[in-house]
Amino acid sequence: MKPCLVVVGPPGSGKSTVGPLLAEHLGVAFRDSDDDIVARAGCSISDIFATEGEPFFRELEEQVIAEALAEHDGVLSVGGGAVLAPGTRERLRGHFVVFLNVGFATGVHRVGLSTARPLLAGVNPRATYRTLLEQRLPVYREVASLEVPTDDHTPAEIVALIAAGL
Ligand code: S3P
Repeated sequence: MKPCLVVVGPPGSGKSTVGPLLAEHLGVAFRDSDDDIVARAGCSISDIFATEGEPFFRELEEQVIAEALAEHDGVLSVGGGAVLAPGTRERLRGHFVVFLNVGFATGVHRVGLSTARPLLAGVNPRATYRTLLEQRLPVYREVASLEVPTDDHTPAEIVALIAAGL
């Protein structure tokens, strides 16, 4: 197993934008756990939540990430809730984990609260997002090798901040 550079953070923190740019900057391959899940399941994440439920999604997510960590040696972005699984947190040890932090206002603006994110498609998505940020912050910090604030930075600046912190 070679170490990966793993990008974690809540929805709207920029993982899907920064991850590929970082990989390009470093000259390594990029992989995204949500993409792997969609490819494996043959349907969208919203469909998985709707038809199989969140526990099924979380199991698949943990499995896909375990495989990626074992065989990939570039940048790996993982879904915002991936770090909730104790097994995944354990597997992240030995990898360099970048936590993209985002404030509530910026995060809400970025996610647009669209139905593409099933966890934020309920009756009060703003409150759900706020709770999600509060509950997950300590977990992201627990696994992080490096924390990068994203609110006031462009993706290119964030890549430079990460590269400087490696
Ligand atoms: C989730 C975040 C999503 C996706 C799924 C669950 C979460 O990924 O994995 O909808 O629990 O925060 P992004 O963080 O890329 O939006």
